[in-house]
Amino acid sequence: MHIPKQLLQRKSVDALTAVENNLRQTLTAKDLTLLGIGAIIGAGIFVLTGIVAAKYAGPAIVVSFILAGIACALAALCYSELAAMIPVSGSAYSYAYATMGELMAWIIGWDLVLEYALASSTVAIGWAGYLTSFLAALGVHLPRYLTTAYLADPVAGFINLPAVLIILLLTGLLVQGIRQSAIFNFVMVMIKLAVIVVFIFVGAGHVEAENWANFTPFGYGGVLTGAGVIFFAYIGFDAVSTAAQEAVNPQKDVPFGIIVSLAVCTVLYILVAGVLTGMVSYTELNVAAPIALAVDHIGMLWLSPIVKIGALAGLTSVMLVLLMGQSRIFFAMAKDGLLPPVFAEVHPKFQTPHLSTLMVGFAVALLAGFMPIEKLGELVSIGTLFAFVLVCGGVLVLRVTHPELERHFKCPASPYVPVSGILVCLGLMAGLPLDTWLRLLVWLLIGFGIYFGYGIKHSRLKLAG
Ligand code: ALA
Repeated sequence: MHIPKQLLQRKSVDALTAVENNLRQTLTAKDLTLLGIGAIIGAGIFVLTGIVAAKYAGPAIVVSFILAGIACALAALCYSELAAMIPVSGSAYSYAYATMGELMAWIIGWDLVLEYALASSTVAIGWAGYLTSFLAALGVHLPRYLTTAYLADPVAGFINLPAVLIILLLTGLLVQGIRQSAIFNFVMVMIKLAVIVVFIFVGAGHVEAENWANFTPFGYGGVLTGAGVIFFAYIGFDAVSTAAQEAVNPQKDVPFGIIVSLAVCTVLYILVAGVLTGMVSYTELNVAAPIALAVDHIGMLWLSPIVKIGALAGLTSVMLVLLMGQSRIFFAMAKDGLLPPVFAEVHPKFQTPHLSTLMVGFAVALLAGFMPIEKLGELVSIGTLFAFVLVCGGVLVLRVTHPELERHFKCPASPYVPVSGILVCLGLMAGLPLDTWLRLLVWLLIGFGIYFGYGIKHSRLKLAG
């Protein structure tokens, strides 16, 4: 079979990093770390923890969190090496362009839409659920046709308006500027961290050993499945790498932001999961707001609305950073000619990729408003794991093809860390249901249609070639 040379053609690391950078570079190591924490702590801990404990892992959800954390730590070390070497906004897409050629880069860029855009929609729906319940507790009842998508409930539903509005608001903020977005992110992150720390301290005093007596009620298989599902809670640390082009000192600060944000969140997750399952029997946790349930359970009714505010803040920052990441990845793909040039436009005053941001925002708002997207959470996880596999592979490839390049951050114990990263992520992917795999396949086929219909003809690499 003859494979056209273009599909395998790689963009040199020099060419990737030599692009003119007209984005504003203001982000510091602290901003990048907070962007990471902003993207990570959200629906996973505030919503999914309860379901995973009740249905899959029991109190051993702590172990599920540790396992998923290990998979992410391996990937994070690989991301850090590549992000420091190729500090551009395309993240895994750009790394694949340098290591595996144009077709693979397109596949991974297209795949990342599942991680960033689809996760933003999913989180927006979770956010709308929290807002509705928060308002209901204050006596304000939103009608169901304004809070539920038609496709989720054809009888009573029409549009999930809160989900649409929050996405549009955040899109507006992102267009205004990266600095303003980072400041807003800072406030949201501080609120959610404060709520989580208060929960850990207050809850620790109410842990009862008998709740842990049956530690693995669903066996080790359940712990593993739980790790696959709770993996969602860690998604987002890699979004730090999409801000590389807007960082003051990306080579040093992006690896720092990725690793520190992941480490902080892993520790918090393990503590929250331990305290939560110690306070309440896992059998009672199959609810959408498990942390609020736990504080109600110990009679601290005043803490419940505060927990909900923390969750709203947490989910807000997740959407903000993921929307930012998606627009940056499209920006990088359009600069390479694989997407139409509008995605690469930069606003003359705000110095943000405003059109890319607006198009991403409108698409995500439409999805969140009208689709029953909750079921697609597993598609987010498989898409992200797939990206992690390729990033770990990318480290191995570049070590062989470009040993001479300066690595400002070196993934330790290579090839063991990247190879383990590949194996662990593949293992978590294998645990996901068959229909999720099929959806991934359909998504990739649509992507092939776009690449062979547009990208292959307009690729800058080809035109330069
Ligand atoms: N990790 C993010 C969350 O849990 C996607 O909401």
